[in-house]
Amino acid sequence: MTKHTLPIRSLDAKYYTDPALFEREKENGLARTWQFACHVSAVASVGDYYTFSIAGESLFCIRTNDNEIKAFYNVCQHRAHQLVQGNGNTGLIVCPYHAWSYELTGQLRTGPNLRAVEGFDKSTVCLTAVQLENFNGFLFANLDPNAKPMEEWFPRARKELRQFVPQIDQLKPLEWVEIPERCNWKLSVENYSECYHCQLNHPTFSQGIVKPATYDIQPQGYCLRHTTECQNLDKMSYPIDIESNEYAGQYSSWFLWPLMSFQVYPGNVLNTYHWHPVSHNEVIVWRGWYSADDSDIDLLRKLAKQDRETTVEEDIHLVESVQKGMMSRGYVPGPLVIDPACGVKSEHSIKILQEWMRQGIER
Ligand code: FES
Ligand SMILES: [Fe+2]
Repeated sequence: MTKHTLPIRSLDAKYYTDPALFEREKENGLARTWQFACHVSAVASVGDYYTFSIAGESLFCIRTNDNEIKAFYNVCQHRAHQLVQGNGNTGLIVCPYHAWSYELTGQLRTGPNLRAVEGFDKSTVCLTAVQLENFNGFLFANLDPNAKPMEEWFPRARKELRQFVPQIDQLKPLEWVEIPERCNWKLSVENYSECYHCQLNHPTFSQGIVKPATYDIQPQGYCLRHTTECQNLDKMSYPIDIESNEYAGQYSSWFLWPLMSFQVYPGNVLNTYHWHPVSHNEVIVWRGWYSADDSDIDLLRKLAKQDRETTVEEDIHLVESVQKGMMSRGYVPGPLVIDPACGVKSEHSIKILQEWMRQGIER
């Protein structure tokens, strides 16, 4: 007798539409994963700080006198006022409420009239730190004090990215393109993580440098690695010297669950996707472009514009339509198209992603 297995169905609509599940997800998923904070160049000098947020929490990175970069919750240990805003440089972190001041290491230094408090030992007060890792110049934070290091979450990704972008230590953010999407962040991430829709919806993709028949997405721990062979490298809209290094003629991307992806275009051109979930039905996608020296600025701006007008624009309509569909009483989750041979017309990557999504909510 042949054994029949039931097809795996896509996630229930509630995962994308229920505000209460979004709150649970912040607690269980987003607060327990490695998330991009800022580029190391944002805190280049002693005293430089930069605020960011994870799972609705305000945090900041700061460079100490020992040239270490630390990350803290942005909250005073007196009566909880926020400490810093935006970015800047300071010798001491001074709370705007009652002027308690902290060293760059987070240690409480002093506060008005603190000596009057009998039995108070100020050495016991320190800002609450969070784990921080430098991933090829990109700082990632994790609110879970017991989180395993990024190398365990995303095996080999750090080294591979460095091979594809040999100039990565010289890069600085050049441009951020902000793309609001009226959909749950998971729909945008899913759309990014399959190419079953590409041929129909991305003409530039299918006729461009990527050889669709070779496109595949496979997990490496909690990383989804996109690989493909390239074609028509002579028809690129920008000049590349494929002889300059081993990876100059290649494309690849590393999506680091849950909210960041590094993409490398031929010519070792790095760009990133960074998803900022706003609510259960809004997300802002930041497309980042990086320059090693000023010689490539015009090219990068051109690429950023072209990308915004083609792939990005095409995807916005797809994900916003799906969000509306998720609200429909008439929607019953369909089977994922999982081809045992994987490849471009398979949704095996969505199956993996949806398992992580479920864990992130139901843990
Ligand atoms: S809350 Fe910061 S000094 Fe009072
Ligand atoms: Fe797409």
